Amino acid sequence: MNTRLLHWLFAISVALFISGIGFIVVGARAAQQAAPVETPAAPPIEPVATVKQLMDGIVQPSALVVFDSVGTIVDATGIHEKQPTTDAEWAAVAASAAAIVEAANLLNTGNRAVDRGEWVKMSRAMADAALQVLKATNEKSAEGVLAAGEPLNASCDACHQQYQRE
Ligand code: HEC
Repeated sequence: MNTRLLHWLFAISVALFISGIGFIVVGARAAQQAAPVETPAAPPIEPVATVKQLMDGIVQPSALVVFDSVGTIVDATGIHEKQPTTDAEWAAVAASAAAIVEAANLLNTGNRAVDRGEWVKMSRAMADAALQVLKATNEKSAEGVLAAGEPLNASCDACHQQYQRE
């Protein structure tokens, strides 16, 4: 082997070695960049409201908006069908229905759930009925809201019968 060839082989192996290191460095950088940005830990959620406060603060006022949004009013001038007419009125009913769904979630957060059986089922029934109301508002269907109002009302009564003391 002449020295020239040896030089060449040496040069090539050095080049391969260096490019190999290069790949490793690039690879490491890529891995570093791909690593998820450190996300701050979610703040701990401390349930604050009692069940009674959830009822008075969210469930009851929201349910009233839903129940009052559609219906038949009978007065001296005759029979009037009441229903939301403007986008804002529909949105208000939708927001209340959504708030009831979230309240159902809250009823099962922290130590609020009285048990893991009927309580969960009954709050789920309230959420399902409120979701039905929400769907009806998306379709701007007064009949839909009226129809969903029944299971919604029934869900309140069912749970109160079993769990409301006094
Ligand atoms: C999963 C069970 C559950 C469901 C569903 C439920 N409630 Fe209640 N509600 C309770 C309990 C338990 C209390 C009693 C709370 C207390 O006095 O500590 C209560 C109390 C109330 C009160 C009285 C609050 C007070 O100041 O004493 C109102 C008003 C009320 N609920 C409205 C509703 C309405 C409206 C619905 C349906 C849209 C509903 N609730 C659905 C469990 C439920």
